[in-house]
Amino acid sequence: MSEATLYERLGGEENIRKIATTLFDTHANNKTINARYVNSDRDKVIQLVFEFLCSATGGHQKYTGRDMLTTHRGMNISEEEFMAVLDDLLSALQSNGIGQREQEELLLANYNLRNDIVRV
Ligand code: HEM
Repeated sequence: MSEATLYERLGGEENIRKIATTLFDTHANNKTINARYVNSDRDKVIQLVFEFLCSATGGHQKYTGRDMLTTHRGMNISEEEFMAVLDDLLSALQSNGIGQREQEELLLANYNLRNDIVRV
C-alpha cells in the first residue's frame, strides 16, 4: 500500500494556499519579524511560498522563486527570527486544521533549511 504524499495529506493546492496566506498575515502581526515584510508584495510572497511548500511536499507545482540561500543571503537573519517564522508556520497549520503528524513533518522539513537562512 503506498503512502499518501505530505502534499496530499496537507489537503493539496487549496489548503496549502490557505496555509501560505495565513502564514504571511501571521508574520505581518508578529513584532519579531514584521519589519522584514513591510515593503513586500503580499500576493507575490504568498504565491512563492505556496509554490515552495507544494513542490517541497510532493505537489506538481513548479517553484519559480530563488533558492533559500540566495533569497536570504545578506539579510542577517537571527536564530530568534528563524524560530519566529517556524512558530508562525505551526500556528498557520493549526488554524487550518492540519493533523499533528503533518504539522511535525512540515516543521521538521522547514527547520532543516536553517543553515541556508540564518546568518548567511
Ligand atoms: C524555513 C523558513 C523559511 C522559508 C521556507 C522561507 C521561504 C521564503 C520564500 C519561498 C521566499 C520567496 C523567495 C523569492 O523571493 O524568490 C522568501 C522571501 C523572503 N523571506 Fe523567507 N523563508 C524562511 C525564513 C525566513 C526568515 C526567518 C525571515 C526573516 C524574518 C525571512 C524573510 C524573508 C524576506 C524579507 C523575504 C523577501 C520578501 C519579499 O520579496 O518581499 N524568511 N522566503
